[in-house]
Amino acid sequence: MTETIPLSEPSLEGNELAYLDDAIGQRHLSALGEYSRKCSELLGAAHGAADVVMTTSCTDALELSALLLGIEPGDVVVVPSFTYVSTALAFARQGATIRFCDIEPVTFGMDPNHLEALLDGSVRAVVPVHYAGVGCDIEDILNATQGLPHLDVVEDNAHGLFGSYRGEPLGSFGRFSTLSFHETKNFVCGEGGALVVNRPGDVERARILNDKGTNRGAFLRGQVDRHTWVDTGSSFGLSDMLAAFLYGQLERRSEILAKRKVVFERYQVMLEGGQRDGGYSLPVVPEDRRSAYHMYYVILPDRATRDAVIDGMRVRGVASAFHYVPLHSSPYGLEVSDGDGECPVTDDVAGRLLRLPFYNNLSESQADRVVEAFLAALAAC
Ligand SMILES: Cc1ncc(COP(=O)(O)O)c(C=O)c1O
Repeated sequence: MTETIPLSEPSLEGNELAYLDDAIGQRHLSALGEYSRKCSELLGAAHGAADVVMTTSCTDALELSALLLGIEPGDVVVVPSFTYVSTALAFARQGATIRFCDIEPVTFGMDPNHLEALLDGSVRAVVPVHYAGVGCDIEDILNATQGLPHLDVVEDNAHGLFGSYRGEPLGSFGRFSTLSFHETKNFVCGEGGALVVNRPGDVERARILNDKGTNRGAFLRGQVDRHTWVDTGSSFGLSDMLAAFLYGQLERRSEILAKRKVVFERYQVMLEGGQRDGGYSLPVVPEDRRSAYHMYYVILPDRATRDAVIDGMRVRGVASAFHYVPLHSSPYGLEVSDGDGECPVTDDVAGRLLRLPFYNNLSESQADRVVEAFLAALAAC
């Protein structure tokens, strides 16, 4: 029997195992090692950032941003409802009230018009997501937040590393942005993340909060002669073994992005013809944005068809999935939010979106099988 094609599949792309071996040989397996420094420098240069702090996940990086912003009970944080739990959870666990923003129907990023209606003096942070690696309307989002001095933007850039908006890197717009290196992402180390620090004034404190509230980093750099407990924080740092593996992937960024672009474009070409007859629509990358090619999805006419296509593809040996369960109507989302709970575009898209298998080494024949299974499952509806 032919093997099932998975939704995503991590792969070795270069020197990951050699670097892992080297990291073990250097006997520095914990955070703040040599490979962590290399990843941080590479990512910092790519963003033009003041610093990049390596963390154990994107969730941790979001939590670190919430600590750095001093989010506390009484503060409101606006996040899209169409996102992963972590975008909201990191702020909710600091006691913030969450206000859910709807998405616009082109890139499925935060809708700047809805955002404008949600903003008031109690909003301390806005957290847009660059869904599937395509930049959201970040300029309009920044414009909407102008004139609110107590408000900061944190970009949840779990999907969009090395994508751009009007020539500027995704993740370089907010005061902070966050990255994920979870096994399902474009660049992986199992579990991993990073906080991109875009303002020089935040660098020292970000390092301290990342390292259990101590100034051990300054001590290791020879800047102080002892290290001690100076602030709040947690143990967010990425192990150097994982950083070594990750560096092997990040070094191959051009090759990885090129492979993903080929898979994306192959799907677009193969599925284009059926758009009219099949009644589905395909992803749009606006001309002023360069995608990071994180995902491929199709929008089906209704939820019943989408769910039937998932089942139909499964029996044909191809995995596919929905995305996301809207947060504004989730049990915990209802508990921590203060909004009116109206996010109609989110409800619509979440009910009709179907993710297709998408990974670096998805071959031409596998892509053919995916499309065949998709069209056959759709025709059977
Ligand atoms: C938009 C978004 N933010 C945050 C996360 C959490 O990432 P991590 O698993 O690295 O914590 C994810 C994970 O899929 C995500 O999709």
